[in-house]
Amino acid sequence: MITINSEKCTRCGRCQKVCPALIPVIGKGESPTLHHPEVCIECGHCVDVCPTGAYDHSAFPPESMHTIDRNALPSAESLMELIRSRRSNRTITGAAIPEKSLNMIMEAARYAPTAQNSRQVHLTLITADEGLLAVETATINFFMRLSRFMLFPPVKLVLRPFLRKLYDEAPALMAMNEQFRQGKRPCICNCTALLVMSTPKGYSFGSQDSNLAYQNASLMAESLGVSQIYMGFVQTAMFMMGAKRAARILGIPEGHKPWAIMGLGMPAFKYAKYTNR
Ligand SMILES: Cc1cc2nc3c(=O)[nH]c(=O)nc-3n(C[C@H](O)[C@H](O)[C@H](O)COP(=O)(O)O)c2cc1C
Repeated sequence: MITINSEKCTRCGRCQKVCPALIPVIGKGESPTLHHPEVCIECGHCVDVCPTGAYDHSAFPPESMHTIDRNALPSAESLMELIRSRRSNRTITGAAIPEKSLNMIMEAARYAPTAQNSRQVHLTLITADEGLLAVETATINFFMRLSRFMLFPPVKLVLRPFLRKLYDEAPALMAMNEQFRQGKRPCICNCTALLVMSTPKGYSFGSQDSNLAYQNASLMAESLGVSQIYMGFVQTAMFMMGAKRAARILGIPEGHKPWAIMGLGMPAFKYAKYTNR
């Protein structure tokens, strides 16, 4: 439900300019009207740009609105320094990640844009050791089964010319398996938490929305001194083993697909330098 208080509205037309659904109709001297308000995507642009608070939008009660303190924003230079210094720091110790940091990382993920503001990205945080071990075990087992199949001589003969890059990774996969047998967790890089971004299966922008959420979260992790590593091995294994099984292993909602998985942990040390890109 949206209403515009015509007493408060100054007819500045800002809401009309920013609304992606072309709902507000603001004419000079006329009462503001709304064109098909039922197609509102609840992006909040109208309430956020209105200089006089003329909007009453049921999705945005007054307590959900916050004035931006522009002086508190990082400068372009300090943001660039953060972007440059973000690394996939794999020196994960067993130290616990502060709960406040985990909450801020997830909040950063939630503030990423989503297609049509559909906000379908679901965040699942895995911190229990048995959950982490289950993900590591399922990933290793998946790649070992795949390797055994691919290295079977007749299969290798046929597939190798087409999948040269994948075949080149075979020694690395074998080394990971060896580490796993020694009690390490090479696929999840010994992370103490995994943050899974998933969306319902039929949703078309799952990958895009999830990976934008990932990037927000990764910068927040870096600024909090928490290590983050993109879990590509885990992601691939989960994707290839099918949504149902992956959902069970990751503990994500049934019918969801995992699109991005972030490994998190406290690093042994921080990097002192970054190199040019
Ligand atoms: C799609 C994707 C998948 C990745 N998968 C893994 C992975 O499975 N394990 C890992 O240790 N790092 C993984 N990484 C991290 C990259 O190796 C890393 O981002 C890259 O080497 C650049 O280093 P930086 O993140 O420190 O800048 C992945 C990164 C991306 C973007």
